Amino acid sequence: MPVTVVVGAQWGDEGKAKVIDLLSKDHGYVVRYQGGHNAGHTVVVGDERYALQLIPSGILYDHVVPVIANGVVVDMPTLFTEMDALERRGISCERLMVSSHAHLIFPWHQAWDALAEAGRGEAKIGTTLKGIGPAYADKARRVGLRAGDVLDPTSFAAALKERAAVENALLVASGGASIDVDAIVAQFVVFAARLAPYVRDTVSELHEALAAGHQLLLEGAQATFLDLDHGTYPYVTSSNPTAGGACVGTGLGPRDIDRIVGITKAYTTRVGAGPFPTELVGDPGGDLGDKLVDIGREFGTVTGRRRRPGWIDCVMLRQAVRLNSLTELALTKLDVFDTFESVKVCTGYRLGDSVLANYPDRMELLADVEPIYAEFPGWNRSLADIREPNDLPMEAQDFVRLIEMEVGVPIRIVGVGAERDDYLLWS
Ligand code: GDP
Ligand code: IMO
Ligand code: MG
Repeated sequence: MPVTVVVGAQWGDEGKAKVIDLLSKDHGYVVRYQGGHNAGHTVVVGDERYALQLIPSGILYDHVVPVIANGVVVDMPTLFTEMDALERRGISCERLMVSSHAHLIFPWHQAWDALAEAGRGEAKIGTTLKGIGPAYADKARRVGLRAGDVLDPTSFAAALKERAAVENALLVASGGASIDVDAIVAQFVVFAARLAPYVRDTVSELHEALAAGHQLLLEGAQATFLDLDHGTYPYVTSSNPTAGGACVGTGLGPRDIDRIVGITKAYTTRVGAGPFPTELVGDPGGDLGDKLVDIGREFGTVTGRRRRPGWIDCVMLRQAVRLNSLTELALTKLDVFDTFESVKVCTGYRLGDSVLANYPDRMELLADVEPIYAEFPGWNRSLADIREPNDLPMEAQDFVRLIEMEVGVPIRIVGVGAERDDYLLWS
């Protein structure tokens, strides 16, 4: 299949990077299509743990061309820190391409992110404070600087100076701390010179790669329910992680895409605020939630925050199938339940006296729904070494089968551990 999209089906951190690493074996190009360094994508190879924020997870293979496409917002300091760290570990970043249309993040974006969060009082979104929302806002306001702008150093320096001065004045007028305009200009002119050799017309590069017979893997960051249009607004990110965003964010057309893989954990997590119907809170739920967080190591790669834990939610996943045209699911972290007495799957939502037919379109409704659960006995053994579906304990097979039936698309990959090879092909 020439073009495959990998998209998070929940609220992020589903294990997208591990699945992308696995699929990268068969792909010539791995392309990030939205988001920025708010993402934290972890790949474990033997004793090595790679935590990537901006660079596509396919970078670990020599044959892969990693591409940061137009839909991404690029924080140059993070990009270079990440490149240097990879190079130190023997992974070359020479073949990286950055779209000339990708927007750049600057320190004022982070300052605005912090100011906006502070201004929200109790109603904080819980952003990563990386400046993602303000950078996309500048893109929409048509005042952003793009990667292609660095190719003309003189006009880039002038535009940078002007933008920094304007933003500084606005920040101060809004009660924010001032930014050091001269220091930012001096620093970012140097970053710009370093970025220039990587800047490309990635739309042409990708279409030519496709025409030459290469397979492309489009890597989503964040997830379906953090999507600016379709997620739990305003508790969302400022881009479109859903599969449609893969077209907009790369310049490939909808008909170029063949396979769309939704990634879900065997349970659900969410970082930051917002409604979460199947969240495990309070006793005895609190203990089970803590157990999930401990065993699943559910702490953010980027911010170190504890992720909120809960049961898997098939109502969400059915909506994810619709929103993304998912052709299949990958179910990760099944092994996290190895020591659980019992496990639950949410199959529907009750609201008052009725069972909802669709995912609620309004956040207030989502906050009020009551999940309907199917409960399974646990399997009480380690899944780590299992590589064949038939070798899974019956209880685990029943659990996977119910999810597959409820969601209505085949599950292809099941994760049974964090390492690269800890998975089995279910169907
Ligand atoms: P992403 O943002 O979707 O790429 O996911 P993250 O990398 O933020 O979080 C997923 C975490 O789960 C990472 O630490 C992975 O190493 C780990 N992981 C992925 N798949 C599995 C699995 O099947 N089992 C276990 N135990 N860990 C997994
Ligand atoms: P990956 O790619 C989980 C969440 C933040 C916050 C909201 C808005 O690793 O799955 P932002 O800084 O984007 O404006 O924050 O989105 N968020 C993520 N949660 N995984 C991520 O990325 C996330 N990226 C952003 O916690 O609730
Ligand atoms: Mg993550």
